[in-house]
Amino acid sequence: MRTVLLAFMLCSCLHVFAQDDAFHYKIEKEVKASQGAVVSAHPLASLAGIEVMKQGGNAIDAAIATQLALAVVYPAAGNLGGGGFMVAHLKDGKNVTLDYREAAPARASRDMYLDTAGNPIRNLSIDGHLACGVPGTVAGLFASLPYAKLPMKKLIVPAIRLAEKGFAITAAEARSLNSTQAQFKKLNTEDNAFMKDTPWKEGDILIQEDLANTLKRIRDKGLAGFYEGETARLIVDEMQRADGLITLEDLKSYRAVDRTPVVFNYKQYQIVTMPLPSSGGVALQQLMGMVAPYRLSAWGFHSVKSMQLMIEAERRAYADRAQFLGDPDFVKVPVKQLTDAAYIRSRMNDFDTTKAGSSQAVKAGNVHESDETTHLSVMDAAGNAVAVTTTLNGGYGSRVVVGSAGFLLNNEMDDFSVKPGVPNMYGLVGNEANAIQPGKRMLSSMTPTIVLKNQIPYIVAGTPGGSTIITSVFQTLMNLLEFDLSPKEAVDAPKFHHQWLPDEVVVEEDFEKAPLEGLEKMGYKITSRGHIGRTEVIRNVNGQLEAVGDKRGDDSAAGF
Ligand code: GLY
Repeated sequence: MRTVLLAFMLCSCLHVFAQDDAFHYKIEKEVKASQGAVVSAHPLASLAGIEVMKQGGNAIDAAIATQLALAVVYPAAGNLGGGGFMVAHLKDGKNVTLDYREAAPARASRDMYLDTAGNPIRNLSIDGHLACGVPGTVAGLFASLPYAKLPMKKLIVPAIRLAEKGFAITAAEARSLNSTQAQFKKLNTEDNAFMKDTPWKEGDILIQEDLANTLKRIRDKGLAGFYEGETARLIVDEMQRADGLITLEDLKSYRAVDRTPVVFNYKQYQIVTMPLPSSGGVALQQLMGMVAPYRLSAWGFHSVKSMQLMIEAERRAYADRAQFLGDPDFVKVPVKQLTDAAYIRSRMNDFDTTKAGSSQAVKAGNVHESDETTHLSVMDAAGNAVAVTTTLNGGYGSRVVVGSAGFLLNNEMDDFSVKPGVPNMYGLVGNEANAIQPGKRMLSSMTPTIVLKNQIPYIVAGTPGGSTIITSVFQTLMNLLEFDLSPKEAVDAPKFHHQWLPDEVVVEEDFEKAPLEGLEKMGYKITSRGHIGRTEVIRNVNGQLEAVGDKRGDDSAAGF
């Protein structure tokens, strides 16, 4: 097979050198390829995608193999016990959006995280067994399979190998595992592969035998290898050793849902993105619609004018998100009105270019979402493109590993509004549309997105980052489509974020000082934090696939 991989920047390496050696591999931040490209949060997961593409698989095969490998090599967010969304554009022109978001167990109830006085009990929706929603990821992988070319038996091979034989962990993974040791010990009912008496260090080999056996059950029994039989029994046993709610019936009845994509035009481009229960697509359509009439590219990248416009659009989109959005199978959401072109334009009627807007007059609240999620982007030469964002919610989710099954369970229940209308445990305000109900899917911000140009995949993008996901995807697209930045510049550029409440602009610590001073003079409150997002982008320029992994983590691109 023709190999034209050109890696033109090496960011960091782990002992180095063979591309496909799980004990000596390197992180590639930029790759150019002609046949296929994958970018994900971990080099070994990106390489797993390329491995199956080289066996004849397409972009969907690669997305499945990469997700399975992430569940092994990136336990903080890659998962079998979480959920996610897939957005795909197939070579025949069809768009597919799969919802495999976790669901509230049948025994969940609206006030399950409140004390007898009706106040939220701190961390009950975050730590341990009661925080777990019914996992959706494995159902999502099987729902993607009809669009793939290879059988699951082949796609799962790299993941089984990595779990069984182990892999060398990166310095970032060692730090992350070390900082979670106390919680692993506190929240688990049995020992697991992540627990260690001495600190983890870069290059240590992580072997996950129980996880390998779970993967083999999935290989041999398909969906039933996870949602029924031994794996299901192990999940329910784990729940019963503590205060978890998930039952055999919850698992057996879980289904991935084929949703109708959010598709809209932005200038000469067509945007394909995720509908509810992710808020990402609706919000992205609003954001891009609100800024489209303005001359962003003339105003320039990170100019005060451009930033103010984008901040005010963000304020308005997040206000609508908090007010209206939830699982459409449970609440009536006025999506048609929220995405109506005239409505979107009218939202900017009170935009004042001379001073900061205010969130005070706006009723309703927002929703807390954690930062630990993961995104992967894939493109192939045949014209297939896939964007997948998947999550355990917090880092390592609930931090509960299913005893003898070796995988972490999510704490996605915290993405519901724990107490609608009242500030939750983070001091944030939730909403009725996202209240807990049995079987309901919690609102998400995950925004896996594909941009088409002349009906052909042009950009695949997405990121983790909780509530900042939508604004990071928005800014990355503006960086590429309006400000003419290269994919690497677009991804690595410092990000800013406004989510209506609290009424402040959050920026990354390395943000340029000058525009922030300009915004402060207009009345904006600026606060800074560490990283915002870890965006993975592939751009297709006349058949050359430019894949970029975010500088902010171990993110790595691969291609051929
Ligand atoms: N848990 C992050 C999200 O779904 O948006």
